[in-house]
Amino acid sequence: MRCGMKNLGLHEIRKEFLSFFEKKGHKVLPSFSLIPKNDKSLLLIGAGMAPMKKFFTGEATPPGKRVTTCQKCIRTGDIDNVGKTDRHATFFEMLGNFSFGDYFKKEVIPWAYEFLTVNLEINKDDLWVTVYKDDDEAFNIWKNDIGIAEDRIIRLGKEDNFWELEVGPSGPCTEIYVDRGLKYGSIDERPGGEGDRFIEVWNLVFTQFDKDEKGNYTPLSHPNIDTGMGLERIATVLQGTNNIFEIDAITEIINEIEKISGYKYGTDKKLDVSTRVITDHIRAITFLVGDTVRPSNEGRGYVLRRLIRRAARHGRLLGIKTTFLYELCDFIIKSWGENYKELVENSQRIKDVIKGEEEKFQMTIESGMNILDSYIEKLKSSNEKILSGEDSFKLYDTYGFPPDLTKEILTEKGFEMDMDGFNDYMDKQKKRARNAHKDTNIGWDSHTDESVFTKFKNEFVGYEEDKCQANIIGIFKDYNEVQNIGPEEKAVLILDKTPFYGEGGGQVGDTGYIDGDDFKCRVIDTKKTREGLHLHIVEVLDGEVTKSPCFAEIDVVRRNNIRRNHSVTHLLHKALKEILGDHVNQAGSLVEADRLRFDFTHYQAMSQEEIKKVEDRVNQKIFEALSVTTTVTNPKHAQELGAVGLFEEKYGDIVRVLSMGDYSIELCGGTHVRNTSEISMFKILSESGVSSGVRRIEGVTGPAVYKMLNDTLNLRDEIAHELKANKTDILQKLSSSLNEIKKLNKAIDSLKHSSDKDELSNILDEVKEKNGINYLTHKFKDKDVNSLRDIADMVRNKLNSVVVLLATENDGKLNFVCALSKDLVSNGYSAGKIIKEVSKVCGGGGGGRADMATAGGRDLGKVSEALKTLEGLI
Ligand code: ALA
Repeated sequence: MRCGMKNLGLHEIRKEFLSFFEKKGHKVLPSFSLIPKNDKSLLLIGAGMAPMKKFFTGEATPPGKRVTTCQKCIRTGDIDNVGKTDRHATFFEMLGNFSFGDYFKKEVIPWAYEFLTVNLEINKDDLWVTVYKDDDEAFNIWKNDIGIAEDRIIRLGKEDNFWELEVGPSGPCTEIYVDRGLKYGSIDERPGGEGDRFIEVWNLVFTQFDKDEKGNYTPLSHPNIDTGMGLERIATVLQGTNNIFEIDAITEIINEIEKISGYKYGTDKKLDVSTRVITDHIRAITFLVGDTVRPSNEGRGYVLRRLIRRAARHGRLLGIKTTFLYELCDFIIKSWGENYKELVENSQRIKDVIKGEEEKFQMTIESGMNILDSYIEKLKSSNEKILSGEDSFKLYDTYGFPPDLTKEILTEKGFEMDMDGFNDYMDKQKKRARNAHKDTNIGWDSHTDESVFTKFKNEFVGYEEDKCQANIIGIFKDYNEVQNIGPEEKAVLILDKTPFYGEGGGQVGDTGYIDGDDFKCRVIDTKKTREGLHLHIVEVLDGEVTKSPCFAEIDVVRRNNIRRNHSVTHLLHKALKEILGDHVNQAGSLVEADRLRFDFTHYQAMSQEEIKKVEDRVNQKIFEALSVTTTVTNPKHAQELGAVGLFEEKYGDIVRVLSMGDYSIELCGGTHVRNTSEISMFKILSESGVSSGVRRIEGVTGPAVYKMLNDTLNLRDEIAHELKANKTDILQKLSSSLNEIKKLNKAIDSLKHSSDKDELSNILDEVKEKNGINYLTHKFKDKDVNSLRDIADMVRNKLNSVVVLLATENDGKLNFVCALSKDLVSNGYSAGKIIKEVSKVCGGGGGGRADMATAGGRDLGKVSEALKTLEGLI
């Protein structure tokens, strides 16, 4: 504590502040929720005044003209710096007093001064202030009414002394600083700069304008006061601590983390960062969940998810193996609960939500860690240092493993990550996602000039009919209208009436036949213009096609499969929402005859269990034989019915609402089964990532599932045959075979070891000596790196002061191993350095520890030369 100041705890300062302003006629309000109400410009509340904007502008009536609060706030702009520095935080509390057209500068400045110097007993000689450069009124109040020396009142420009949010009430301000003394900075440091000597504790805003989205400032009908004092900041000053993490209530959180992790704060720089991250995030997390925010992939839910995952990750860095945040939040609820009742009221729910998310993350990390470990093993055995972009991307894409974590772990283990390569894969995936999106575009082709088709109209009867009588009303060849086309020519036909579905909404176009009295055409594909005109892309099989009556018939078998696949995407959409959560939304789809693909928003790869649950649920709905009905109505009514779909896009005055029993109800222009039982069965083939936050499921239905079943059973029979096993005991047979292989491998290893021993006695004669150092070089053929290590190890166990350098050529590949005896290592020799020099001769590279290192090489002809360099190095 600085001498002369009152030593108050965090919770006491809050009380002192609110009661001070209560005595000055202010109504004390509880903190508003972190979720802004009716304010789209903000994601989260990040200032005391933010929830009260409408009181300033006069759009709403405040509960009193003078109000005071301690507002919970979250700012995530600097989240990556939290923990690394002394001052960054995501969660903080802001003390504030507010005047809605009541008092102004003349009152608020003296009160602020009184609170600081009388209630908090801060030495008046330690106070400095800044004012807006043209604000003579504020300047004079500080100088004349308060008596602050002129040279301690600094005029600054708009950047420093004008306060505003993106939109809303704003105005010039005056800021109060406490000088913490020369211990924290130099004699010429001034408030408003970068240094640590002056700490800004209170901002008094003279709210006079309302700023709109375009940046216009409209004067408010009456001037207001909005002030903000960071509770943790002022506590830092009063308690004389170096940073916010040392103040009383915050230190208590650190103590709790110490208890869980066993790590003593202050003994390791890196682990301190992790402790601070958790200390900060746990408050943000607890308060967010207490205000009903739930983890998701968008908006506030995403902020929460990120905070939980970041905190959980740092818990792991501290060595905490289990979920722990949900326990730690108990402490927050206890310590802050008296002032924030919502924490106490929702305590069980808060814990459940946090625990659930932690567990999810734990699973992601665990599966990812196993894969990463296997990659690292692979790197080790091939003497490589850098994990490829492809592998790190796979970790991210398939297992949801964050790339910064991959990088961090690799660095810890002495490896690197190919960041550029990773980014390349990321870009490629984004492109893929864009193309995937294109697939689902409605239309003929986005580049086509459709003006040639505008004079045509047609009627689509394909919801009810598979075939119909019609008339050919237009024939186009290469976008030119023609009167006729002959055999083997390709063209676009327009009919006045058609059962052919034109590609759209992810569903492919129909194929089939259009025949006339004198011609026969095969329809290869059907497209649809943006105006909804169906274009049949045909190949003439026979005769000459003219504008004349015809008979149009789609390929019904194919269409039935398309129907199954389209209908199942609706069941899938609904099941995903049920099982993964409401954040799931369709992001694209492709419905073909033999398969379907469904893209949806979801943050991480689905677990096997989730995939199975979704598949089970969809099949259950198929077996329930729900009837499928269509209602044609207007968008408003569709919305009232609860239909899922993108209302604001593409749909006109009339929409089709497709219902499957009571289960699924969606807007859809596609063609469907009449009863879900027609789908027969659904099988998910794969689940993968398309882009960040978008996943893809591919699957099959009906006949394709039947085919798959047969293929799988055939495969099983073949495996049984190969293993010479019965169908019923394949697994037993397989595991006994694997055991046998293991035993054989062991036997081979031991044989190798004895042959290595034999080699040892052969080559020990080759040991030479120079400057008191023994050295041995030898080139083998067809030995693997492990044998070389084995032999090198045996040599240095036999001799002192020895350098062993071995090479082997195996399968056309060249490898070196270098090993040093312990005494040489203690004398500063390094096998890693030696092998680097040696392998360079053969155009290779590698490295490793000081006592044992391995390297590769390319130039097989230069091995002897390379081995000779050792002598020079000694
Ligand atoms: N609204 C002002 C701030 O947050 C007081 O600094």
